[in-house]
Amino acid sequence: MKVLVVGGGGREHALVWKLRQSPRLTKIYCAPGNGGIAADAECVPCKAEDIIGLRDFALAEKIDLTVVGPEAPLVAGIVDLFQASGLRAFGPGARAALLEGSKLFAKEAMVRYGIPTAGFQVFREIEPACRYLRSLDGPCVVKADGLAAGKGVIVAENRAEAESAVRLIMEERAFGTAGDAVIIEERLEGEEVSVLAFTDGQTVLPMVASQDHKRVGDGDTGPNTGGMGAYSPPPVYTRALHEQVCSQVLNPLIQGLRGDGINYRGVIYAGLMLTANGPYVLEFNCRFGDPETQVVIPRLRSDLLAVLDAVVSERLSEIALDWDTRAAACVVLASGGYPGPYESGKAIAGLEQVPPGVMVFHSGTRNAGSKLATAGGRVLGVTALGATVGQAVRVAYQGVGGISFEGMHFRRDIAHCALSRERSESLDQSM
Ligand code: AMP
Ligand code: GLY
Repeated sequence: MKVLVVGGGGREHALVWKLRQSPRLTKIYCAPGNGGIAADAECVPCKAEDIIGLRDFALAEKIDLTVVGPEAPLVAGIVDLFQASGLRAFGPGARAALLEGSKLFAKEAMVRYGIPTAGFQVFREIEPACRYLRSLDGPCVVKADGLAAGKGVIVAENRAEAESAVRLIMEERAFGTAGDAVIIEERLEGEEVSVLAFTDGQTVLPMVASQDHKRVGDGDTGPNTGGMGAYSPPPVYTRALHEQVCSQVLNPLIQGLRGDGINYRGVIYAGLMLTANGPYVLEFNCRFGDPETQVVIPRLRSDLLAVLDAVVSERLSEIALDWDTRAAACVVLASGGYPGPYESGKAIAGLEQVPPGVMVFHSGTRNAGSKLATAGGRVLGVTALGATVGQAVRVAYQGVGGISFEGMHFRRDIAHCALSRERSESLDQSM
């Protein structure tokens, strides 16, 4: 099969790396790809948002399957466009992708299908939103309705913070039309996990769970980022919780959508808060997570291409997923200044010294002559497997040790929640 992967980040590198291992693969392209992906796939100079250009390329090259990484082309309807041209593409159509494209659509769907999520109110004007904030006594969360590159959510400690979030979204239009509506929601407490599942609109096959580190600084401090690292499995996510997530979240969602005439094919990503009252959905994404994919996909033993193909042909019931029991950890190396403004074009050194067993997925790199240079906020994802989360983390940091570029920064506490749990469990066992 000839495959085209759309996107150019760490998620797409992990997908390309895995798809290349499939015996069914004959040729793999990535659009636009990046400096690291170029070693594993033929990069095509076409942006992920240029869905017409991608369709024309897929037609010209007779691509058998296109795998869409980022949300923007999905929300823009790339899968519908490909289907209309007789092309096969992995990912939800535009209506189904609204689960990520509109937080209001997602919240209303959750209410309709009885899926646990924080209580909320929707506002299309500033004054009623501020009046409502004055009636609340606790902290809350303010969210722009539309796509805002992960930045449209403000967790407010008090009313003043919440009001300035509403003004940022609705008055300053910091996220453009994504701020036509705001959602003000109850603030939940608990540990977060990401659960991704394959679905063909009928069968739902969950992947192993993972935990992402959204804040830039150690100890979960500083501003939110696209994700500074991840690990899998999170020990907090027990089998009992998993059963609950399947029966209360994933299955009702996919069956509910189907009842509403929406056949969801692709990956559904549930961002969950594990509260004292059970798992609550914080958000749905209509795609693989990044960096979650960089720890989940290395644990998949099954042929990924066969799974994606079964999703697109609605044969997922014939598939069983086989997982490596080892844990995985990924440390993201970011450019100086990220998630704020940062410089690109810094030479990257030390990649040839990475110890065996460490996988380096490229997020924001480009080839500058014979050298590799930074070309994004998140630059590399250094990933390793290990018998325990602690071992995977140790090997990943050994991999980080030899890599450098000007301004490079990374979190030094990836998997801290799991590691403190591992430590207390081994202490329990020793007592
Ligand atoms: P979202 O894009 O909706 O997942 O929100 C981004 C981040 O904001 C989440 O990963 C949480 O850390 C936080 N968040 C979102 N909604 C809530 C909520 N209702 N209560 C507490 N934290 C939240
Ligand atoms: N890591 C969060 C996301 O992919 O949305």
